[in-house]
Amino acid sequence: MTAALEVSRLSFGYGSQPVLEDISFTVGRNESVGIVGANGSGKSTLLWCIAGLLRAKGTVRLFGEPSSRSSRARLAMVFQNPEDQLFMPALVQDLALPLLNRGVEREKAFREAGARLADFGLEDYRDRPAAHLSLGQRKRAALALALMRDPELLLLDEPTAELDGRAVRLLAGALERIPAAKLIATHDLGFLRRTTTRTLLLRAGRIAADGPTEELLANEPLLEQAGLI
Ligand SMILES: Nc1ncnc2c1ncn2[C@@H]1O[C@H](COP(=O)(O)OP(=O)(O)O)[C@@H](O)[C@H]1O
Ligand SMILES: [Mg+2]
Repeated sequence: MTAALEVSRLSFGYGSQPVLEDISFTVGRNESVGIVGANGSGKSTLLWCIAGLLRAKGTVRLFGEPSSRSSRARLAMVFQNPEDQLFMPALVQDLALPLLNRGVEREKAFREAGARLADFGLEDYRDRPAAHLSLGQRKRAALALALMRDPELLLLDEPTAELDGRAVRLLAGALERIPAAKLIATHDLGFLRRTTTRTLLLRAGRIAADGPTEELLANEPLLEQAGLI
């Protein structure tokens, strides 16, 4: 089967300053891959380029096809700030929206949105705005929203930032049950160990390492050099 994602010789800069240089890697179907690197190393930028939100040089292929509107419809991204994706007066409306946009009938869309919230332990909050939830709940809600598209590739940007231990555990458990390829940008090394089998290390805009997560985590000099420990 073709890879979920193939990034080849990708380069990007916001201005003249390059942020990503000559990035190449692949993510297999159902593989879960981490992206680590110090603050400002380009993790978010790389995810934005893959999601087609920024236009980079080089090529991105999704599920064996060139990146296009239709191939990108098969991926979903969870932004670092859930506020960027949850803004309706009721959480259930946020989740129903992608289905309504796809032409799903109203009652069915709301029923599925409610069921998905229940899967994430958020049934008691369905009629409240995301702003009334704790950050951990909002992060879970943002993931639940991403899943409404049944993505085959899930891009997650700092999913555990500012979460407490229990919220991290719930999130890791939820991720494990999702049958999609995953690319997870994080500097939470415990979460990385728990949720990924392979990791890319970004340093100064380039891939400084790409290998099994356990090996990377055991390489203290490399982690130190990358500003991770
Ligand atoms: N919108 C932007 N405009 C200009 N520079 C940006 C913008 N977003 C990020 N940068 C710069 O790009 C680099 C990579 O940032 P980012 O991808 O956010 O890194 P990370 O997610 O690893 O912390 C940083 O030097 C950052 O200052
Ligand atoms: Mg970032």
